[in-house]
Amino acid sequence: MEAQAVSISFNPWDRSFRDNPYPHYRVLLEGSPRKIELFGTPFVIAARYADVVAILRDYVRFSSVQKLSPEVREKGIFRGAATVLFSDPPVQTRLRRLISRDFTPRRIRAMEPRIREITTMLLDQIERKGTFDVMEDLANALPVMVIAEMLGVPPENYQTFKHWSDFIVARGNTLPGQPVPDDVVKVIDELRGYFTREIEKRRVNPGPDLISALVAAHDDNEAMTANELLAFVILLLLAGNETTTNLIGNGMLALGRNPDQMDLLRRNPELTARAIEEMLRYDGPVQATSRRVTADCEIGGTEIPAGAECFVLLAAANRDPAQFPDPERFDITREPRDHVAFGDGIHFCIGAPLARLEGAIAIGETLRRFPNLRIEDPSAPLAYKGSYFLRGLDSLKMALD
Ligand code: HEM
Repeated sequence: MEAQAVSISFNPWDRSFRDNPYPHYRVLLEGSPRKIELFGTPFVIAARYADVVAILRDYVRFSSVQKLSPEVREKGIFRGAATVLFSDPPVQTRLRRLISRDFTPRRIRAMEPRIREITTMLLDQIERKGTFDVMEDLANALPVMVIAEMLGVPPENYQTFKHWSDFIVARGNTLPGQPVPDDVVKVIDELRGYFTREIEKRRVNPGPDLISALVAAHDDNEAMTANELLAFVILLLLAGNETTTNLIGNGMLALGRNPDQMDLLRRNPELTARAIEEMLRYDGPVQATSRRVTADCEIGGTEIPAGAECFVLLAAANRDPAQFPDPERFDITREPRDHVAFGDGIHFCIGAPLARLEGAIAIGETLRRFPNLRIEDPSAPLAYKGSYFLRGLDSLKMALD
């Protein structure tokens, strides 16, 4: 297949594409993975479910190690340290094993009462105020407060974390090859400095928190370098924060636009877990991930050369009619267990149980508390944040009465 000019069918740097990529996915779902050339590098775009899953399961030919410029290595968020997300086996296997020892389903379940308390506190504030912006009043605050508690850092600092995390994510759309902007470097330095000090404190004074557990894993056998430890703590903050915020926001939007489904869920709270899976399928917080091709290969009828970069469109795969009948319909009674909103294969999201729990509590409790909830002005345009890869709203105003 000939390399094509960059078309509007896939352009993460175009605002209107970012605001609503779904019609473009429909076009991409109709054929084999497309090849395009961006910034002098061949790119492949995989959208169909079967192609996406094949790539995610083939970590040998589709590597997660990013090609970073010396500038990004020096000034970027992880400063060249390996992270579980951006590494391949055996490094990924080592890091994932160490992390899984401490970031356990048990530790996550233990958070449930606190997640409920924080949600109730936020909903009380909304009730007193009488107005409701889903993002500002609920979705932005809950995940960052929860992850701060798990890490054992004061939840009062959550606004600072939120600021750091938002800033870095918002600039995640910087064009490849561009220098890291100075203001981003400054925020990265602040964040790294803060967590370096937190790690040092735990060394002297360990507690029951996740950072202390990770410090112990490092200090016991140096299986994780100090730089890897810091990188992982930062990854948890970033990965666990914006994504879950956007699950709550995108999920509430889907319910608001489909009042019959909102009613159904309110009358049948036992459907909550299923509804969360449908929200993840229908309008997932992570639209796409990327891989680097290590050997010439073929996927879904397209020859892919070694050295190509691959955009793996999770959110397009989740709307593939070959996998999900009537994929454009938001239907909380389907059980889309096989969606790829959390990825697939060895990098499958380690925080999925936490995100599911937070989403279910936040959305379930909001519906229970406010029986007349609806989108305040359905004709008002929606404002999306600046990142294509992490899809989420800036603001979503809902009426309570
Ligand atoms: C709805 C919320 C979330 C979504 C949609 C999501 C999505 C994803 C996806 C798609 C991947 C795989 C990326 C790839 O293969 O390139 C991933 C990996 C990961 N996620 Fe999540 N995530 C969410 C919440 C969380 C939370 C709450 C945490 C932690 C607190 C977390 C931590 C991680 C980590 C550490 C990885 C890397 C795992 C590995 O590479 O082995 N995520 N996530």
